[in-house]
Amino acid sequence: MDPTTTPAWSDLRAHAERLRGTHLRDLFATDPDRAERLRLAVGEVELDLSKHRVDAPALAALIRLAEQTGVPEAIEAMFRGDRLNTTERRPVLHVALRAGPEAVFTVDGRDVMPEVRAVRARLDAFARRVRSGAHVGFDGRPLRDVVHIGIGGSDLGPKMATVALSAYGHERLRFHFVSNVDPSDLSTALADLDPATTLVVVASKTFTTQETMANARAARAWLVAAGGEDAVAHHFVALSTNVEAAAAFGVPEAQVFGFWDWVGGRYSVWSAIGLPLLLSIGPENFDAFLAGAARVDAHLRTAPLAANAPVLLALLGVWYANFHGAETHAVLPYDHDLLHLPAYLQQADMESNGKSVTADGRPVTTTTGPIVWGQPGTNGQHAFYQLLHQGTRLVPCDFLVAARSHRPIADQHELLVANALAQAEALMVGRRADEVRVELEAQGLVGAELELLTAAKTFEGDRPSTFMLYPELTPEVLGTLIALYEHKIFVQGVVWGVNSFDQMGVELGKVLATRIRPELDDGAAIGPHDASTRALIEAVRRLRRG
Ligand code: F6P
Repeated sequence: MDPTTTPAWSDLRAHAERLRGTHLRDLFATDPDRAERLRLAVGEVELDLSKHRVDAPALAALIRLAEQTGVPEAIEAMFRGDRLNTTERRPVLHVALRAGPEAVFTVDGRDVMPEVRAVRARLDAFARRVRSGAHVGFDGRPLRDVVHIGIGGSDLGPKMATVALSAYGHERLRFHFVSNVDPSDLSTALADLDPATTLVVVASKTFTTQETMANARAARAWLVAAGGEDAVAHHFVALSTNVEAAAAFGVPEAQVFGFWDWVGGRYSVWSAIGLPLLLSIGPENFDAFLAGAARVDAHLRTAPLAANAPVLLALLGVWYANFHGAETHAVLPYDHDLLHLPAYLQQADMESNGKSVTADGRPVTTTTGPIVWGQPGTNGQHAFYQLLHQGTRLVPCDFLVAARSHRPIADQHELLVANALAQAEALMVGRRADEVRVELEAQGLVGAELELLTAAKTFEGDRPSTFMLYPELTPEVLGTLIALYEHKIFVQGVVWGVNSFDQMGVELGKVLATRIRPELDDGAAIGPHDASTRALIEAVRRLRRG
């Protein structure tokens, strides 16, 4: 369904036009209840959507857009195991990984849950042995460091979540994440580690990814140099859908943990790929993480569209991208433990919805996924908030805030929260020129200087944000937050009519890199390239010679 041909799309155009010139301040003035009405909660996560440039009629048109583009049907199709990933002809069932004990999910008529539970039981047993110290290294000592090797979805999720829940982390185990093929990444990670007490986790859905396999081979050599070939069995674990390739790499069968092609890489933190998190926080906390996500799955299926958090988040994103020209979306966690959330969501969102053809192969007719970026507050305030407040671009923002800190120091957490609230308020309310002028006049400014500073210190405001507030960052809350974003991305993909579950756009560069690699060697033939690439290959060769 082309969204731009729906009646709702034309209505939304009209609403955007009608609301042009209506400031968020005006929306609050004419509708004092909006702060109450546009609040909702999923589990322990409370969402304030009132600082968005919508009134009731615009919101109703957005909901109609969801209906007219088939969002309710698509939600059911996902849970039913339909092959929504049209190009790879795969179901999209990461929701099965966090489903409760009664759940049944079928692929080709077969219930996949017994296998899901069996792998999870093996993962739990392994995690318990590592955590207790029963699983020892080649010289009999318990393992202390975990080096997780993976890239993209096989890195960002486990890294983001392990760091996010470090307050629940095991007291002995330390985690290191290596993703880049740049040798500096692995060398730095291994520099201070003792191979005898290090567990290497090789995470790759395909077990063919160039970067991961190069790092895995190097880590294997590092281990074997210290402990011999037999050490691999004690120290290597593989997480993959390609169980045969993992076994061929030398990982003992008992330490290969599989998952399935119906789990997309960027949706795989709930699967065996989440092993670092499981090792860090333990099986009970990992269950809570899954339960937090399962709560959003149930909410997505049962809440009416008008009170459905991921649907509303998705529609607001569509509103800004397609009707207000917003090109980017900022993720601003005022929660340092969510340090890696912006990078995680960059992949989740941009690899999913950075598409220009539809799920049935036609060119899209409108702008699709936004550029996602961000940094934890308060750091970002001292870097890019100038542009958020006074720049010429509209950047919808997400604030994520815990009411309580896991590690309080004096009133620092209260300062953090105050900053988050202040920034959301400042973005929305702004500061009118007349207010600025009165203040400057009181300071004695007159004439040209008064005019200059009045203009420079005026904040237009009217900049929208979502405020997500939770008591503290528990495993359950993290699961809820991630699933909210996952389903937001899914719903947006449905509205835009794209397949959110393939990533063909990453292939071309991979193919060309494989072709170019041997051409970097002195004397090797250089194949056909454009003049710029050819000159650069020659320059690299010259510089490598020193
Ligand atoms: O960069 C493309 C991609 O396929 C991602 O989608 C994926 O998360 C990443 O590479 C890693 O793939 P794998 O888990 O197969 O190593």
